[in-house]
Amino acid sequence: MKKNIVLFGPQGSGKGTQAQLSSKAFRIPHISTGDIFRQNIKEKTELGQKIEKLINSGKLVPDDITNEIVKERLQKDDCSMGFILDGFPRTLNQAQFLSSFININLALEIFISDEEAIKRIGDRRTCSKCGAVYHLTHLAPREEGVCDKCYGDLIIRDDDKEKSVKKRLETYHKQTEDLINFYYKEGIYKKVDGMQTIADVNNAVGEIIKSLT
Ligand code: AP5
Repeated sequence: MKKNIVLFGPQGSGKGTQAQLSSKAFRIPHISTGDIFRQNIKEKTELGQKIEKLINSGKLVPDDITNEIVKERLQKDDCSMGFILDGFPRTLNQAQFLSSFININLALEIFISDEEAIKRIGDRRTCSKCGAVYHLTHLAPREEGVCDKCYGDLIIRDDDKEKSVKKRLETYHKQTEDLINFYYKEGIYKKVDGMQTIADVNNAVGEIIKSLT
């Protein structure tokens, strides 16, 4: 069976971290709307210039832009056996749009408290070249400030300032209930406790993905 998975959870819950691990383990692509947007901002594309201010202030990118980007990406050949969508959908409109053209088998929420989210994001470092995610204590790079994988510089994301993080969390909580209800009714909603170690969350996520038949 195809593994068409959507992953959601508050900021800093570990969606990116877990999606990277499961993508490798199950050989399906990790598609992060946040990564796609940040790449466009870095390359100063037309889209990047349009969305930079929104993202840095913690606001969502409009649904019509986000929906089209995801639809185009999911039509690529590497998604033929499935995918892990990280950070999409985030609104009911996005979830309904996604279901209008593809069948989703699992909607998995990784949950943590807001206090933990703010703490984790404060100590997150991201590779400016390949996007790999580190944490100063829970997932430290071998050499301070340098990516283990590509030797790129590790930076603090522009939207990781405390004010933006609080705004992102507020938006998340406002939108999530609708998303949970939507996927709960479809019978594909599952939840994992994200307050455990990275390895324990990974085991829990892996077990759920393996159970997709
Ligand atoms: P996006 O990039 O998706 O950001 P986010 O949802 O805010 O999530 P984060 O990347 O902050 O956190 P994460 O859950 O991936 O955690 P991570 O694994 O890094 O989106 C950015 C922006 O783009 C949005 O604000 C919006 O503007 C726009 N956007 C994106 N999608 C959109 C959409 N669908 N519609 C409209 N706009 C959209 O982990 C965090 C840290 O904790 C790391 O340092 C990690 O090492 C560490 N860590 C992870 N797990 C654990 C653990 N179990 N224990 C201890 N530390 C841990």
